[in-house]
Amino acid sequence: MNVPMLDLVAQYQTIKDDVLPAMMKVVETQQFIMGSSIPELELAVAQLSHARHGIGCASGTDALLLPLKVLNLKPGDEVITTPFTFFATAGTIHNAGGTPVFVDILPDTFNIDPAAVKRAMTSHTRAIMPVHLYGQMADMLELMAIARSRNVKVIEDAAQAIGARRKIDGEWRVAGELGWVTGYSFFPSKNLGAWGDAGMMVTSDDAAADRLKKLRLHGGAKQYHHDEVGTNSRLDTLQAAVLLAKLPHLAQWSAKRREHAAYYTKALADVAEVKAPFVDPANEHIFHQYTLRAQRRDDLQAHLKKEGIGHAVYYPIPLHRQPCFAHLGYKEGSLPQAEHASREAISLPIYPELTRPQLDRVINAIHGFYR
Ligand SMILES: Cc1ncc(COP(=O)(O)O)c(C=O)c1O
Repeated sequence: MNVPMLDLVAQYQTIKDDVLPAMMKVVETQQFIMGSSIPELELAVAQLSHARHGIGCASGTDALLLPLKVLNLKPGDEVITTPFTFFATAGTIHNAGGTPVFVDILPDTFNIDPAAVKRAMTSHTRAIMPVHLYGQMADMLELMAIARSRNVKVIEDAAQAIGARRKIDGEWRVAGELGWVTGYSFFPSKNLGAWGDAGMMVTSDDAAADRLKKLRLHGGAKQYHHDEVGTNSRLDTLQAAVLLAKLPHLAQWSAKRREHAAYYTKALADVAEVKAPFVDPANEHIFHQYTLRAQRRDDLQAHLKKEGIGHAVYYPIPLHRQPCFAHLGYKEGSLPQAEHASREAISLPIYPELTRPQLDRVINAIHGFYR
């Protein structure tokens, strides 16, 4: 039995009776651009994020780029972020005219290290961009305190973390609630995935929301009036309809991922060569990815491939070591925890529709490799 890394067809089979009529409603009305599903989805995602505004956009990448644009970065302005993330996190900082400043991660959660952020703050720092990696929130309390003390913004990259929560002072706070603006990705593989590219920003800053709404429509909320130069980054109405139909399933899908994660972690506890994901006790993880630290990671990868078991390495080259950022001057050894993680991390299939026999097959293959 092969086990794929992701099986979107399995999910499609369970939801098509909800999603197809929702899509057809858009088709029947031919309201493809900024149709009524968009404000409906924006409201629902803002509520989920305990935020005042949701602003749909074309992708998770744009959901980071547009808030960075709101900051009007000048050459030399710095945005502190993690190197252990998908490229868009840092690519958008560059494309918004800023300089990414990479700091190291915590070895347990793989998330940005607030102490390292504090050390990296300079008079040029304009924002901090934490990533809630794999579906587990970064230490927002610490990060917000650092940002507040220096009057800089926090842009949450919650592309992998919609619905993730963290208990702060006895209260659940959600991804998107505490930062200035938060970006979500609805890339099809995400916990809430569209049937194409899509993204959303949430914020409780009314002025920022107004700017973001303009920026996604060529800088003009009113047609043919352009207060500034923006772009076309509308959320597609068909995608909004798909996402609205899928949204009621999200909590249950993420719970299923947690259940699978617990099953893996228990079953792999006796394998000394692998370390199961650490869940910060303050966090409710949504397990966008289930990522082990594995000894002989590359050999394990080859073994899983041979066994027909899906897996992926997120991320094999930390961003401070990417050729496009060579000019920033980071060297091998500059950010040792991120570099170490890139040599050990391996993600296993964790999608909600996985069956018990499939999970067992993955577990047995890992046991078999290290025996
Ligand atoms: C951490 C992170 N940031 C940003 C993005 C960009 O999102 P998108 O692919 O929707 O542009 C992704 C998704 O791929 C991501 O995982």
